[in-house]
Amino acid sequence: MQFSAKVSDICKQRSACAIIAVDSKNRLTASGDALDKAGNGKLSALLKRGDLGKATASTLLIPQLDGGAERVLLVRAGGSSLSQADFRKLANASAKAVTGFKNATSYLAELTVSDADTTWQAQQLALAAGLAGYKFTRCLSDAKPNALANFTVHAADKKQLKAVQVGIDQGSAQALGSNIARELGNLPGNICTPSYLASEAKALAKKHAKLTTTVLDNKKMESLGMGAFMSVAKGSDEPAAMIAMNYKGGKAGQKPIVLVGKGITFDTGGISIKPGMQMDEMKFDMCGAASVFGVMNALVEMNAPVNVVGVVAAAENMPSGRASKPGDIVTSMSGKTIEILNTDAEGRLVLCDALTWAGKFKPSVVIDIATLTGACVIALGNHATGLYANQDKLAEELLAAGENTGDRAWRMPLWDEYHAQLKSNFADLQNIGGREAGSVTAACFLSQFAQGYKWAHLDIAGSAWNSGGAKGATGRPVPLLLQYILNKK
Ligand code: BES
Ligand code: MN
Ligand code: ZN
Repeated sequence: MQFSAKVSDICKQRSACAIIAVDSKNRLTASGDALDKAGNGKLSALLKRGDLGKATASTLLIPQLDGGAERVLLVRAGGSSLSQADFRKLANASAKAVTGFKNATSYLAELTVSDADTTWQAQQLALAAGLAGYKFTRCLSDAKPNALANFTVHAADKKQLKAVQVGIDQGSAQALGSNIARELGNLPGNICTPSYLASEAKALAKKHAKLTTTVLDNKKMESLGMGAFMSVAKGSDEPAAMIAMNYKGGKAGQKPIVLVGKGITFDTGGISIKPGMQMDEMKFDMCGAASVFGVMNALVEMNAPVNVVGVVAAAENMPSGRASKPGDIVTSMSGKTIEILNTDAEGRLVLCDALTWAGKFKPSVVIDIATLTGACVIALGNHATGLYANQDKLAEELLAAGENTGDRAWRMPLWDEYHAQLKSNFADLQNIGGREAGSVTAACFLSQFAQGYKWAHLDIAGSAWNSGGAKGATGRPVPLLLQYILNKK
C-alpha cells in the first residue's frame, strides 16, 4: 500500500472514496462543509434525515455527491472534544470500510483531538489503513487480496502537510512491520519452521547492505553451552536456529538496542503435553520472533538511523524419545543449572540462553518479546501486553510508546518475594513457579539471566493474536517497539 499526504480540494480531488467526519450535532469539518456547499446543502439534508448512526465511529457510505470522489464515507465523531481513543475508533472503522476500494482520501485529520497533534492523527490513520488492508491469502487456492492500494491523508495547508507526512511515515512503517509479523504468525507450523525463519533472516540481509544475519547451528550452540535452548530443540526433528539480524543504521560506536524474540514455531508442550483444545493456536508461539522480524523489516525499509540487533530463538517443542523429561537438569549458557519440572515452560528455556548471548552485542538495552504464559492472558486479557523491566525509565518509555500508538502495555512486578517460587531442591533454579502469579514468576526466571544490562520483557501471550472468529495474529507489539526505537534516535 502506498501512503501519501496531500493538500487537496475535496470538490476536485479524484478518489474512489473520501472519508469525512460528522460530529454528534451533524456538524462537518472544513472539507465536509465545502462539499455540502458545492451540493447546495444536499449533504446536510441527508444528515438531518438521521441515516448515520449516533454511536461514535458509526459509518455510512453514500454515492457521489458533488466532489471529485466516487463515494463519500461519513464517520460519526463524538461531541465537542474527541479523545485519542475515540479518534482511534474512527481511524479503524473508516479504514475497515474502505478496504474494498482501490484508493481513499481521509479528511479526518481536520478533527481536533485532545492532547494530540496532527502528526499523531496522521500516524493513527496510516497505521489503521495499513492494518485494515492486510489479509492472509498465502494458503488459499483462490487468493483475493484487498483492493486498497493508495491511502491519502488530507492536510489543510503546506505547513500541516509536513506534520501529516511525518505521521504517515511513522504509521505506515508500523503497519508494514505489523503486517510482516502477522503474516509470519499466521503461517502454519509445517511451513513456518525454525529453518524457515532462518532463511527469512538471511534473505533480509541479502536485500539490505546495512543488515547482516548470523545463524548458529547445533554445533556452534553446543560449543557455546546453550544447554537450556538445546534441551527444548532436541525433542524435534526440525533443526533449531539461534538467529541474529544486525542492523547498523546509526553511528558506528553507538551501542545497539537488542530485541530478543521467542520463536517456538509450534508448542505441543513436549512430554508435558498440552490438551488438544485449541492446540492449533500454538503455531502463534513464535509471535515474539515475528515481531522482531516486523521491526527489523520496518527499520531497513525506513533506513532508520539506529543500531538494532534482532535475536530470534527458534525451535519446535515436541514430545519424542529424544525430548526432555520432567525432572531433567540442564546447564544454561550462563552456567546456571535448571531443573525442568514442566517441559511446557519451554519459552523461558530458549530465552534464557538467548538473553545470555544478547550480552555479547554490548547492548544499550535488551527487550525480549514472548508469548510466554497463559497466566498473562488471565491477568490482562488481550488488551494489554505484560511489561516487566529492571529499570524504571525504560519501563516508562515503553509504556509511553504503547500509549502513543494504541498498542498498550501494563507494568507488572519483579519483586524478590516472587523469586522464592523458583527455588529447586536439585538445581540452581527450576523452570516453573507454581500456579500463583505465573506470568510474574516466568519473568523473574528470565530476569536472572538478563544480567549486566538494562532489560525489559514483554509478555504478549494475550495481545499477539485473536482467537475465535477473528483468529489471527495482530502484529503487536510492533507499533510499540518501533515507536520506542524511533523516539530514541
Ligand atoms: N506458549 C505457552 C504460553 C501460552 C499459553 C500463550 C496459552 C498463550 C496461550 C507457554 O510455552 C506455556 O505453555 N506456558 C505454560 C507455563 C506453565 C507450564 C508454567 C502456561 O502458561 O501454561
Ligand atoms: Mn509451552
Ligand atoms: Zn510456548
